[in-house]
Amino acid sequence: MTNKLTSIASKFSIEGNIVEIKPLGEGFINDTYIVKTDSESNYLFQRKNKNIFQDVPSMMDNILKVCNHIKAKVNANGGDVNREAMTLTSTHEGALYFKDEDGEYWAMCLFIKDSVSYESADTPELSYAGGKGIGKFQSMLADMKEPLVDILPGFHNIRFRFSQWDEILKNDPVGRKKDLSTEIAWVEDRREEMLEFWKLVENGTIPTRVTHNDTKINNILFDKKGDVLCVIDLDTVLNSTVLNDFGDAMRSYTNTGLEDDENLDNVNMDMEIFKAYTKGYLEETISFLSTSELEYLAFSAKYITYEQVLRFLMDYIDGDKYYKVKSSEHNLIRTQAQYKLLTSMEDQFEEMTKFVEQHSKQLSL
Ligand SMILES: Nc1ncnc2c1ncn2[C@@H]1O[C@H](COP(=O)(O)OP(=O)(O)O)[C@@H](O)[C@H]1O
Ligand SMILES: [Mg+2]
Repeated sequence: MTNKLTSIASKFSIEGNIVEIKPLGEGFINDTYIVKTDSESNYLFQRKNKNIFQDVPSMMDNILKVCNHIKAKVNANGGDVNREAMTLTSTHEGALYFKDEDGEYWAMCLFIKDSVSYESADTPELSYAGGKGIGKFQSMLADMKEPLVDILPGFHNIRFRFSQWDEILKNDPVGRKKDLSTEIAWVEDRREEMLEFWKLVENGTIPTRVTHNDTKINNILFDKKGDVLCVIDLDTVLNSTVLNDFGDAMRSYTNTGLEDDENLDNVNMDMEIFKAYTKGYLEETISFLSTSELEYLAFSAKYITYEQVLRFLMDYIDGDKYYKVKSSEHNLIRTQAQYKLLTSMEDQFEEMTKFVEQHSKQLSL
């Protein structure tokens, strides 16, 4: 494997000679390696997951467009373009990826030295830093007009999810529907509310911008002082509403329990984590967010959590085809835990909304 890795890595325009290639982290999606060289530059080398990303060439074009836009901004601000933005490394032929003989796609970028990343944001300080990271990223891209290719059609689009939901419920392929009237009602009772929100995105009341779509804190690199360097892992950049990024971050950051917690008492939305993220996020984004985006910011946490309830339940009814499961009830357990989180958000919604209102007013003064 090492020889094969070296041979593939050698297809890219690397500075210096390869000294070592080592696996990095344990990503769920891609296989990641660090390529160490005898020059000043090391590289991050990845085999992209082609089951999830069915159009890697378009994905890489999207990433390049986003990186270039950010680099221009960093440059204009007198920043360090090699540390405050991702730098893609192309092949000797000038391509952004290499396709090997097994049909696997490989890509490379500059490894950002002396950077720090965190695995989870379980303190208000880290949550604040995460909000700043994604906020800064979105802010630099707020004026990007060049469209991105929609490599994940239907992503966070509840109308699309309902079309899948209606079809799967009609077919009820493994006969699970009969025992799920309570859970199905959780979804149906909120259908109109969620569609009303999505209509505002469809009719442009809520603008479409550039979104990251994987806002975990380990996708943000910080410098040793703790300041944001840049956002990485740009495989999922899309044109959508920035509210989806905010909502998804809040769904994962604020959960005091696990996504598949069997003890529902563990699962709640942590208001301090919500406030800290919101504060960091708004500090970076208040200059460009529209009134409609601010108005629906808190709502987006419910929207994304609701979507996840629907998706877990839908996969359970469909016979566990999409998510990997550890037991036959795993998707139902996930549904119940996400629903608990959703109701916790609903219970605290007034306070969430008030915080966004007050804090954005304060920042606009
Ligand atoms: N350009 C980079 N410079 C330094 N470290 C990086 C860089 N890109 C990724 N990393 C580190 O490698 C980890 C995994 O990379 P990532 O692109 O997020 O892969 P995955 O898709 O598997 O999540 C990141 O969380 C980060 O710690
Ligand atoms: Mg990642």
